[in-house]
Parts: sequence; structure tokens; C-alpha cells
Amino acid sequence: MELCNITGLKGKVTIPGDKSISHRCIMFGSIANGTTQIHNFLSGADCLATIRCFRELGIEIEVESDYSSVIVHGKGLHGLSAPEKILDVGNSGTTTRLISGILAGQPFDSKLSGDESLNSRPMKRIIEPLTQMGAHISSILRNGCAPLYITPAQLHGIHYDSPVASAQVKSCLLLAGLYADGETSVTEPSLSRNHTELMLKEFGADIRSTFEIGSSKATAIIRPCEELYGQEITVPGDISSAAYFIAAGLIVPDSEILVENVGINPTRAGILRVCEDMGGDISLLNERTEGGERIADVLVRTSRLHGTTIEGDIIPTLIDEIPVIAVMAAMAEGTTIIKDAAELKVKETDRIETVTDNLKAMGCDVTPTEDGMIINGGRPLHGASIHTLLDHRIAMAFSIAALVADGTTKILDSKCVDVSYPTFYDTFEQLL
Ligand code: S3P
Repeated sequence: MELCNITGLKGKVTIPGDKSISHRCIMFGSIANGTTQIHNFLSGADCLATIRCFRELGIEIEVESDYSSVIVHGKGLHGLSAPEKILDVGNSGTTTRLISGILAGQPFDSKLSGDESLNSRPMKRIIEPLTQMGAHISSILRNGCAPLYITPAQLHGIHYDSPVASAQVKSCLLLAGLYADGETSVTEPSLSRNHTELMLKEFGADIRSTFEIGSSKATAIIRPCEELYGQEITVPGDISSAAYFIAAGLIVPDSEILVENVGINPTRAGILRVCEDMGGDISLLNERTEGGERIADVLVRTSRLHGTTIEGDIIPTLIDEIPVIAVMAAMAEGTTIIKDAAELKVKETDRIETVTDNLKAMGCDVTPTEDGMIINGGRPLHGASIHTLLDHRIAMAFSIAALVADGTTKILDSKCVDVSYPTFYDTFEQLL
């Protein structure tokens, strides 16, 4: 994809369904009794991997041709059947880690494997606590990564103090907790996205959250239940996808964009705070709650941004938005410091490296650090060849950078946006 600079993005865009929530609807619907009807499902490759895996586990899943509606014919907590082949999780870390929690409690063997990037991401973070629960799960190549092999075991409730604020680790253990012989609780250093807790409750699970007063620690607690019940769910727009249009509206000269139907769950909405801190003209309209999730339309106008420091508890609430926040920081006056974000290293690529390498290629003054980066903003960006390394968020973040860079920017392997936002480039047409 070749892109060049532009001014005056105007109009409104509607954001496709949330990736995290779409995955969970399929998973929880599959192990619930009765049907789960999903509206505004995200048809990104990651969520299709989740559908593929649950079909392989014997679940009938009906999809409209445009995925606007998906119906999952759940078979209950004990209704999954043994897969005939290796479960193909594609590029999806969420599929891998969450499904492993469910598979650990099944009376059959399963193996799962993904693409090169997925098979190099750390799985010890789920293997160790699942093993503490009594699960039989191993890394087939003994390198702490997928392919994974899971065999039947009786699971026991545990308390797990997670060293990382990771919704994937937390959700994996909570799902395994549905099959354990007692209570399972997970404490994380700061609260990561809580869609599992909110949605499992709607499905009828015995689940609750507690917060330590005077500390940022959060604990989710689940007890095994008899059954879950199918639900009708409308998936809110994905704030991680909205982030690209929010950033474009703020940094492309003479722009005004209304980004409609954005999920603003506080455990996901850190980017909104950062935009405000940077001096962005951003407002929330039409705030509402649907299916337990907060939603709003976000209005952004071109703004003179300034640098900021992003650190601590806010990091898990914007972890996937850091590539595009870094692009905004490159356009902002002054220095932006991003720290406490070492988790960036274990995403689809090492995003400290992919973000800083590509920003440097565009002429930005940026220094990678152990747990983030320091960006001295305000220098003009120049068109460059962007090496996405097949990371969807790098492709989209640097597509926004291209709109404010002089010359032409080439996004290599831009098709990888299909992982989370297949219609990303089409959406721009609506703003021209
Ligand atoms: C996700 C959790 C986050 C996020 C990922 C989706 C989820 O990962 O980066 O894109 O749906 O639970 P971690 O929980 O590993 O931080």
C-alpha cells in the first residue's frame, strides 16, 4: 500500500466490532447451553481463527455472509468433542491463551499451533499457572511456546498472583476455573481489560472482582458453576481500531472526524486520557451502556499536540494503542516518554523495536528503552518503506503517519490489517 500526505479528513466512520469481545462471545457461547446470537461480530482473521477452532471442537456456528450476525449453538460446559486435527490458532494470542484454559478442563487430548509469530510468543505465562491448577499442558518443542499439547486432568482451584497485567493470562485461568474443583482467583498488578469478568457474569458464571484499597492490584474470583446460558450480544466498536481515526483526526491538518460506536470500557480507554493530556480536542458524545459495556461516539478535531509521560497503571488500558500513540507523539511538540510497557516486546512483533525502527526511518528522533521509548516530537516526518513484519497494528499506525509525512510512504505487507480490521483502508474513503 502506498500513501501520501493529505489534509482535511472530514466526516464520520463507524468502527467494526471489538476483537477481544468477539473472541469471548464465540468461546463463552460454545460452552454455554442454548444459542448465543452475536451482532456486529468482528470478521478479522483472529476472530475467524476462534470460530475455526470451536467448529473443530464440534460446535455449530452459523455466520451471515458479512458476519453481521453470528449464531453459536452452544453445547454446555461439557459438550465439546475431541478435535480431529491440530487446532489452528493463526496469528491470535487471545485464541491461544483463552482456549487453552478451556481445553485444560476437557476429557480429551488437543494440540494447538499457529503461524510463525504466534509460535514464538511466550506461553509459559499460561503453562505455569495452569500446571499449578493440575493441568497437563506442555510446549511440544520445549521452548515455552506453541505448539501446545493438552491432555485430560482434574483441575484444582488456586490463587495466582500474576507477575503481569495480562487479560489473556487472567482469562485463561478464569476459564480453567470453570472446570476446577474449587475457587480460582487471579490477582494482577494493575487491572487489565475486564471483558471476561463482565461477559462471563452475563452468561451466568459465579464471578466477581475485588480491588485492594490504596493499591492498584485487582483480583478476579470465579467458582465452578453447573452451566452457562446463551446470550444475545451486540459487540461495541473496537477502541483499538477507533484509535487510528482518532489519531488521524488530531494530527492531519484541518480535520474533524466523528468516530461512532466506540467501546469506552475504562480498562480499554487509556488512549482517550492520553489524547486529552497531549492537548487533543476530543469529546465523547451520546454515552450509553449496552450489554454491560460503555459506548460513545468520539469527536476529534485537528489539534496542536504536546508531549506527555505515559506510565504505570494506564499502560494495560492502552497497550495495543501504543504504536499509534507513538505516531501522535512524533507529531507533538516536546518529549513523550513511554515506560512500564515491556509487554510491548511480546506482542505480534517486538513493538518497541518495530515502532522505533519505523519512526526512525521516517526521520523521527526516537530512542527505544527497556520498557518503552522516548520520542522527541515536532520534527517533520518523511515518507519511507515501513517494515510491518506482518504486525497489523504497525501497518495501521504507520498508515496514519504516512498521512502527515512528506513524499510517499510504502506500507509493506499491508494486507496484515485483516487480522483485526479488514476494512481499514476502505474506511478512509469515507473521510476524503
Ligand atoms: C487481549 C489482551 C491483551 C491485548 C490483546 C487482546 C485480550 O493482551 O494486547 O490484543 O483480548 O484479552 P495481554 O492480555 O497479553 O496484554
